Amino acid sequence: MDAEKKTPNHVAIIMDGNGRWAKAQGQERLMGHVQGVESVRKVIKAAIKHGVRYLTLYTFSTENWGRPQEEIDGLMELFVHHTVRETPELSRQGVRMRFIGDLEAMSEEIRRSVDYAERETGENRTLTLIIAINYSSRWEITRAARRIASEAVQSEIDPGQITAETVSAHLTTADFPDPDLIIRTSGEYRLSNFLLWQAAYSEFYFTPVLWPDFDEAQFARALEAFAARDRRYGGVTKEEEQA
Ligand code: IPE
Ligand code: IPE
Ligand code: MG
Repeated sequence: MDAEKKTPNHVAIIMDGNGRWAKAQGQERLMGHVQGVESVRKVIKAAIKHGVRYLTLYTFSTENWGRPQEEIDGLMELFVHHTVRETPELSRQGVRMRFIGDLEAMSEEIRRSVDYAERETGENRTLTLIIAINYSSRWEITRAARRIASEAVQSEIDPGQITAETVSAHLTTADFPDPDLIIRTSGEYRLSNFLLWQAAYSEFYFTPVLWPDFDEAQFARALEAFAARDRRYGGVTKEEEQA
């Protein structure tokens, strides 16, 4: 197999375990999120180093609104603070920032920080960093269905011509390739409403490591595991083909 295929083009991460990490240290949950930002920094650097072109990070799900208000406020504050503060440095590293999720439902402060980061980094090409905030797959797919239906009503689209590509093109991820590798930390084995459509042929890597303990070495291990996988897409292996 050629070496290029062994590095995932797009890695998506469900960054989980901040709360448990904080609890284990006898600290408030928010301290876990603060520490989690360090892991984000490390993983972005590692992704660039390994030649990953797209990195998606799940930072807040539409279900996370069910958490205590104090934690939500803390998370939003961290989000705005770091988005604004890290943008120049990320831009220097060649990172293009994009955000997916129901941003219209977010505060003006959040939307301003998102606009700023996307505008400042739009020309960068080394790594596309996609931040999922107020995101859930069912929200996204429902929104796509609504948009496709409304285009059909306007006769802009023929219902008989709707394909999987039409659906993909109406998702918030329309500009990005599907993830090759999805990592989830903290020992949970579920998607929690993340990229359901896009994950159709993704490889999965689960680790018990809590997100604040996830670093460059952990990221490299996930890439190694990915390199050993045999992606068949419903077909047969190369060896079987030649046999
Ligand atoms: C992930 O860590 C971060 C977010 C969901 C915002 P958690 O906060 O879910 O941590 P645990 O799962 O409670 O340990
Ligand atoms: C998934 O983690 C969401 C993010 C990482 C942002 P959760 O901690 O919210 O997921 P569940 O509740 O364990 O499924
Ligand atoms: Mg969790």
